[in-house]
Amino acid sequence: MQQTRVLTGITTSGTPHLGNYVGAIRPAVASSLRADVEAFYFLADYHALIKVQDPARVQRSTLEIAATWLACGLAPEKVWFYRQSDVPEITELNWLLTCVAGKGVLNRAHAYKASVDKNREAGEDDDAGISAGLFMYPVLMAADILLFNAQKVPVGRDQIQHIEMARDFAQRFNHLYGAGSTEHFVLPEAVIEEQVATLPGLDGRKMSKSYDNTIPLFCPRPELKKLIYSIVTDSLAPGEAKDADTSNVFQLYQAFADAGETASMRQAFADGIAWGEAKEALFERIDAEISPLREKYESLMARPGEIEAILRDGAERLRAQLAAPRLAALRAAVGLRPLSQVSAAEAAVAHSTPVLPVFKQYREQDGRFYFKLMAGERVLLQSGGFDSPRDAGQHIATLRRDGYAPADPAITLGEAVLADEVRSALAALAEEDARKAAQKAAGAR
Ligand code: TRP
Repeated sequence: MQQTRVLTGITTSGTPHLGNYVGAIRPAVASSLRADVEAFYFLADYHALIKVQDPARVQRSTLEIAATWLACGLAPEKVWFYRQSDVPEITELNWLLTCVAGKGVLNRAHAYKASVDKNREAGEDDDAGISAGLFMYPVLMAADILLFNAQKVPVGRDQIQHIEMARDFAQRFNHLYGAGSTEHFVLPEAVIEEQVATLPGLDGRKMSKSYDNTIPLFCPRPELKKLIYSIVTDSLAPGEAKDADTSNVFQLYQAFADAGETASMRQAFADGIAWGEAKEALFERIDAEISPLREKYESLMARPGEIEAILRDGAERLRAQLAAPRLAALRAAVGLRPLSQVSAAEAAVAHSTPVLPVFKQYREQDGRFYFKLMAGERVLLQSGGFDSPRDAGQHIATLRRDGYAPADPAITLGEAVLADEVRSALAALAEEDARKAAQKAAGAR
């Protein structure tokens, strides 16, 4: 099945609240279970350093957010779940992109401009107190996305501009370093979930850490109750009809209830339900959904070593299967190459009649069976060991039939070889096969 790559990062600078759960975590976990999605969820701890310079808080938030996602049903064996700082290829790509990113583009970033505007209002120097990290934020975010060629990036509206910048950097890189049909980067698209509710906070404004009006997702039951009872309402008395559509109590209820429950609550509002009673129903409804998750969360939080192991395992597999080979290809593309390697352009000139690539099968001293795909002297692909020549042969047949899959654990790219080189080598073989088959068919007639 053709899978779409969906990737999103969560900055580890706070404690998840109900708004994060309804707006991001719940829909993300649901979509990660789809068979047609290859999901990447990561803890953007390098991004956190831009805002938070309290080490204990960064660590605490990373633990809380990881535990939250796992408690909410993210399956680390089904999705890529990792911590940004465990994948050094991201920061390495960050530099390659820094060298193609336009400074003028970064000058226009909303987050940076807002800080400059504040400084101007205060009569300060434009860049007073602004770190280069804040300025470069969009480049690091582009590296997160482009390293894995993510196609869809679910984000809040405030992040759309960053995705546009990632596209811009990707295009510049493709233009500078792409040769012929080689496009290094897929252009990512922002996905804005229109249907998911933005939750109101305790004071009726959007629930957000910056308004200090949040309900922490996994606060203990008594605190949850207290907070829900503190939601601001109007002063209509019990028995007086209440307007569901303008009520934040109702909006919160709706985000957790099914259609039937929502309809009965709407009726109860029209019938003049007392605020105390409505809040009690809201509390029970939210707690019914959250309490099993809260239990998992608490047990995970008690075993931080287990979360650490899950994150490390995710990063390790991701590096081996995707990040390292990708970065090797990108390094080669910009000219960070082994000095012994003939450049692709020179090689193309030298072989004006291209030699067909060949698969070579052989046995090693370990008694296992291997193959490689060679283009002249160059090793394009190297297999791991197979138990029998037949197994090796079948793998070759699959490659010839289905093409190259970068995630295939049985093969690795040759040194400084680009995935696209392998693809075109396989395509050349397929063409040759087709030509031979046509000849044979013509001969049989
Ligand atoms: N900047 C994002 C936010 O604050 C977090 C983030 C970092 C991200 N890297 C990303 C989101 C890559 C999507 C893709 O919400």
